[in-house]
Amino acid sequence: MSFDQIQKKLSQYFIEKLESFGPTAKGVDYNSLESQARRFEQLVKVIDSSIPFSIIDYGCGYGALFDFLKTKEWDFEYYGVDLIEEMVRAGRDSHREFSNAHFTSDESEVPPVDYLVAGAIFNIKLEAPYEQWQNYTCQTLARMNAMCSRGFSFNMLTKYSDADRMEQRPDLFYGDPLFFFDHCKRNFSLNVALLHDYGLYDFTILVRKVI
Ligand SMILES: C[S@@+](CC[C@H](N)C(=O)[O-])C[C@H]1O[C@@H](n2cnc3c(N)ncnc32)[C@H](O)[C@@H]1O
Repeated sequence: MSFDQIQKKLSQYFIEKLESFGPTAKGVDYNSLESQARRFEQLVKVIDSSIPFSIIDYGCGYGALFDFLKTKEWDFEYYGVDLIEEMVRAGRDSHREFSNAHFTSDESEVPPVDYLVAGAIFNIKLEAPYEQWQNYTCQTLARMNAMCSRGFSFNMLTKYSDADRMEQRPDLFYGDPLFFFDHCKRNFSLNVALLHDYGLYDFTILVRKVI
């Protein structure tokens, strides 16, 4: 199966989730609102919220991160980008009243920003071979890096999951945290943090370009 075919199937997968569960945590494939929030809490550690900032939510789904940021009462301009037009529409529809919320499926429309956050966008690989998906992930990270000036963060399922307690599914990508830490250190910034201590089977990487 070619990469384009995998992308198409992946889009179909997320469209079906959205159709079944609507703009909710389950609609973007989380088990619960609680696990989505716990991951957001890690991702936003890259942000210096003491000053106003702009942020891209890369793979934004229906824009749950916007609502999360709003509860913090920070001063920010939000740009949600998603491959899937249906997700973008759901985000736009439910955030009409907020002048600082923008949604698009065309990443070339988004201005350069301070920060970029990508939550759970690499987890489902379907039939793609491990190496191919890891390469695709690295290419996407390079694009993400080019879109922000102060830093970015992302998370993914970890290869350090308990084999006896949790069977690893062949359609999911369990990334190697050490590989991605090393990749980010070598390619993007000297200031990289690996967070693997928040009680879920995944990890978060923060890449700070400005300290
Ligand atoms: C599991 S959902 C997570 C949504 C949101 N980040 C959250 O945490 O609530 C993954 C989303 O990422 C989108 N996505 C995956 N790869 C992407 C890419 N390369 N560019 C833009 N969006 C992407 C999918 O369409 C899907 O809506």
